[in-house]
Amino acid sequence: MAVDPLIELRDVNKYFGELHVLQDVSLTVGRGEVVVVIGPSGSGKSTLCRAINRLEPVASGTITLDGQPLPEEGRDLARLRSEVGMVFQSFNLFAHKTVLQNISLGQVKVRRRKKDEADRRSRELLDRVGLADQADKYPAQLSGGQQQRVAIARALAMDPKALLFDEPTSALDPEMINEVLEVMRQLARDGMTMVVVTHEMGFARSAANRVLFMADGRIVEDRTPEEFFTHPRSDRAKDFLSKILKH
Ligand SMILES: Nc1ncnc2c1ncn2[C@@H]1O[C@H](COP(=O)(O)OP(=O)(O)O)[C@@H](O)[C@H]1O
Ligand SMILES: [Mg+2]
Repeated sequence: MAVDPLIELRDVNKYFGELHVLQDVSLTVGRGEVVVVIGPSGSGKSTLCRAINRLEPVASGTITLDGQPLPEEGRDLARLRSEVGMVFQSFNLFAHKTVLQNISLGQVKVRRRKKDEADRRSRELLDRVGLADQADKYPAQLSGGQQQRVAIARALAMDPKALLFDEPTSALDPEMINEVLEVMRQLARDGMTMVVVTHEMGFARSAANRVLFMADGRIVEDRTPEEFFTHPRSDRAKDFLSKILKH
């Protein structure tokens, strides 16, 4: 695809003490692109996501969003966080707030929307993720798959330029995984720019423009899903695929 860069990392390095957790990571994610990140546990996938919305500072290199360097702190950083939505394995919903309140909160606080306007937008988004009838429930009254769809609606409510997903289905019972992946597939079809850390290879094959394979803090492969799954180049990727595709 013609690349209109939205997220760009250049020679990014990060350490946790002695551990060199991101090693010269360079990556361009084009607008509307869906990039799936896979790799063994501990390879730096979560740290990569967290660096992109600056939940983690980096030691060197540059990260830009839509041509702008990531802000260091304060109001600009809060705005960045709202422009790059993040969906985690644990849904992180406020337990004592209703589904509707969970989705409207950030719109009012960060986007400065009026409550009515925020609630209207929240209901539209709940409809989009198939939960129109759950607005007044509390998170604990929903299944894991439903809670994760609320978390996605909450991220979308900020009108993000991109969404980062860090193993969004890993905490779910198997029968709920698909309802979440289906919402993500629809977002991909609608042109949302997405970076998705996942072990769901079916999703990678069907929705990703590119697959990044990470090992030991490096991007070892960056290929189309077709190329990656049929002809992985590195021994690390071959070994990883043989392990996960067995079950
Ligand atoms: N806050 C932290 N402090 C120290 N080490 C960390 C921290 N977060 C992650 N690590 C280490 O960094 C490495 C990469 O972690 P992570 O990015 O979570 O990998 P992945 O998501 O691929 O499993 C791991 O060895 C992990 O133990
Ligand atoms: Mg992780």
